[in-house]
Amino acid sequence: MPIKDLTCIKKHLFLCNGGSCKAKGAEESTAVIRRKIDENDRSGSIHTTKTLCNGRCNDGPIVISQPEGIWFKDVTPDKAAAFAADYLFKDIVPDGHRLYIYGENSISDNPKNNQSMETTRQFHYGTVLEAITILREQGYGHDFTVYDGKLKADGRFFCPDELEITDVYRYEGDTDPADEAIVFALSAQCGLKGILVAGYGADTDGSGQLIAQLHYRYLRP
Ligand code: FES
Repeated sequence: MPIKDLTCIKKHLFLCNGGSCKAKGAEESTAVIRRKIDENDRSGSIHTTKTLCNGRCNDGPIVISQPEGIWFKDVTPDKAAAFAADYLFKDIVPDGHRLYIYGENSISDNPKNNQSMETTRQFHYGTVLEAITILREQGYGHDFTVYDGKLKADGRFFCPDELEITDVYRYEGDTDPADEAIVFALSAQCGLKGILVAGYGADTDGSGQLIAQLHYRYLRP
């Protein structure tokens, strides 16, 4: 068996396959996540390891990601593909799966902690236009585009550390592939608010790489 080169690993997922998580479909979820990693040709940068019980059986199937130190809950087989698409390939931490991030004072099933989670919200939409219309009404008046490795809006260029993601709109379901996009509401430090539409498919414009560098409001200390 060839020895894996770990120097290129960016994410290491620990997939709980303890008894309680297995009873909720952890083996199938593991297979789905590994298949998605292979299909997206990311096995060189994302490594997976099956584990025994991680002590949060009621929240299973549990997935832990390092080096971020994020614990995910409820990664059941029917949700595993969407989880992989969001977290592994767009660096979105899905609210419905977020359990705990190292350094927090409490687990997210603590109501007190849930309050802070609400600062970044995820919505579902019927069409991209519908999501954009809603965000325009909320003051996201500019359009972000990717240009020369930076995000551009209103004639200005922004580095990822000048922006944060405040809302995410994602489509789920069967429809025209043109509607299978994620719509990000972005806020700049200078007060500018705008919208970035990123496709689920191939990262042809480099937006996926830039999004991965943006901060979600709730990830801030
Ligand atoms: S079996 Fe997965 S947390 Fe216990």
